[in-house]
Amino acid sequence: MSALTNISLIGFMGSGKTTVGRLLANRLKFNFIDIDRVVEDRAGMKIWKIFEKYGEEYFRILESQVIKEVLGMANNTVIACGGGVVLREDNVNTLRKNSIVVYLRISVDEAYKRLKDCSDRPLLSIDDKLIAISKLLRIREPLYLRAADKVVDVDGKTPEEVVDCIIKLLPADVIRNVRTC
Ligand code: S3P
Repeated sequence: MSALTNISLIGFMGSGKTTVGRLLANRLKFNFIDIDRVVEDRAGMKIWKIFEKYGEEYFRILESQVIKEVLGMANNTVIACGGGVVLREDNVNTLRKNSIVVYLRISVDEAYKRLKDCSDRPLLSIDDKLIAISKLLRIREPLYLRAADKVVDVDGKTPEEVVDCIIKLLPADVIRNVRTC
């Protein structure tokens, strides 16, 4: 962690990184950046289209470039990362060097509940989403934990409750601007 004040949210698809990230940024009076949206802007197409046209590896290269650029410039910013950001050690080093990394941990069952009807996640565009989620999460759980400075369980919590949990875990100098409810 550096003297810069950034918070990166990592976690599985459906864990609420974007929704929670926006709310958290609002509470802290921070900027908000969603890495997936920056990747889409760069590529000029949606993530599912990048996967379809160029494949996952191409997406991962773009994702890593964007992580480096965004984290290299960010200050007082909440960054919502894509669920696969922890697959590259390089990304994790960049996140850890430039931000407090918060892992939004979700269970397989809760992720399935939230994602069963989604059609825009290329890694889940197979018939048995439950199996896909449990396989991916089993592989990724140790990577998320290794990358994280803080862990917040999101099952059964509203986005606002998750934000409250995150704020309680942050160092005092980061939360000096937080609005009290
Ligand atoms: C991915 C998660 C997605 C997106 C891409 C790959 C993953 O982001 O980056 O589809 O590998 O878990 P969200 O976690 O925001 O859905």
